[in-house]
Amino acid sequence: MSGHGPATPMTSHKSGPLTGVAEVPGDKSISHRALILGALSVGETKITGLLEGQDVLDTAKAMQAFGATVTQHGPGAWSVQGVGVGGFAEPANVIDCGNSGTGVRLIMGAMATSDIAATFTGDASLNKRPMGRVTDPLALFGARAYGRRGGRLPLTLIGAAEPVPVEYRLPMPSAQVKSAVLLAGLNAPGQTVVIEQEPTRDHTERMLRGFGADISVEDGPEGRIITLTGQPELRGQSVSVPRDPSSAAFPVCAALLVPGSELFVPGVSQNPTRNGIFLTLQEMGADLVLENPREEGGEPVADLRVRFSALKGIDVPPERAASMIDEYPILSALAATAEGKTVMRGVKELRVKESDRIDAMARGLEACGVRVEETEDTFTVHGMAEVPGGATVRSHLDHRIAMSFLCLGMASTRPITVDDATPIATSFPVFEPLMTGLGARLTQGS
Ligand code: S3P
Repeated sequence: MSGHGPATPMTSHKSGPLTGVAEVPGDKSISHRALILGALSVGETKITGLLEGQDVLDTAKAMQAFGATVTQHGPGAWSVQGVGVGGFAEPANVIDCGNSGTGVRLIMGAMATSDIAATFTGDASLNKRPMGRVTDPLALFGARAYGRRGGRLPLTLIGAAEPVPVEYRLPMPSAQVKSAVLLAGLNAPGQTVVIEQEPTRDHTERMLRGFGADISVEDGPEGRIITLTGQPELRGQSVSVPRDPSSAAFPVCAALLVPGSELFVPGVSQNPTRNGIFLTLQEMGADLVLENPREEGGEPVADLRVRFSALKGIDVPPERAASMIDEYPILSALAATAEGKTVMRGVKELRVKESDRIDAMARGLEACGVRVEETEDTFTVHGMAEVPGGATVRSHLDHRIAMSFLCLGMASTRPITVDDATPIATSFPVFEPLMTGLGARLTQGS
């Protein structure tokens, strides 16, 4: 929903040890895909553990607008009655994807090879983000996009009446672009091929296979080659959504910030295309143990046990960026208390997220008394014994910026206020009760 209500500030105060069990919500990426693939299938898809964040609720609403029936049965328990590949109906109204880049980009892909038109919009953050990265490859299938300057939303996409399959080499590491191309390839005859130089999250590939598509993945000298055979009949499935590693990163890093903390975080996805943050924390010296590794719903998961640790700054290599792209804001907050400097390389994609995350973290950390350096593609945070805090920072309609500074405030000398905490509801609607239940001191207002 782009109807963003009034800004609500939230303040984080120095906290005693965080202890207990942190049951974080379902994975956002998998939740979007479960709804979209359910809508593109024949029969019923049953989903448990769905993230009921605003981003995913907006995708659920969009799937209804394209003709699927989406029903909530209980907390996290949803079903989708699909219309099948090529069965999307033309929506009667504008599709509002709110804050969600994943929602809009995947849905554009899913409709681009049907003979229908749809107009997409979002909130002030989403309407600034680049869409050409998706509409360019969708044009190769025969779809036409009419957006604002720079291909920005609001944008009308006219699906290809007679789509052709596509071979596409990703110009940037982006699972959203990869997924848009694969979802478009579903309704094109023949084989659609996507080549990615660096592996990005592979939930679309795993789930397409689970829903019955013919899809192969090969590793070659030019990267990963993904080949999808178009026009399969996808069949409704049961999807159990694992807990989101990107959300788990917040309580895990908060425990590493606040002396004396010890947390147990059960059932967190350990998909190798998503677990870069946990490797990084271990390299920094975190007492973070992965227990009971297992497979659930086609994804590797584990329980995490984390204890407060004195950390040292490290150099995070560029080849790890895609596997922890959403975790750099909270890592930057944590790095502010590590010994020495933490250098994050190959991170320019952060500049086109819900906000320019390098700029948002840099300005907020400086306001809190932390020294940082940035280039277009690199972010460096100089650690200190204790962060002074005592500042109000801007969240820029970005949930991860808001949560990162609230976690930092749990360990800073003076409180940290974020000017607007409402974006947190997009991905982690229970952040405040969950963190206060563990011992954090979060108050409404500044
Ligand atoms: C996502 C992919 C990533 C990530 C986003 C979710 C997805 O974006 O930042 O939060 O579900 O495919 P990019 O693929 O654009 O890097």
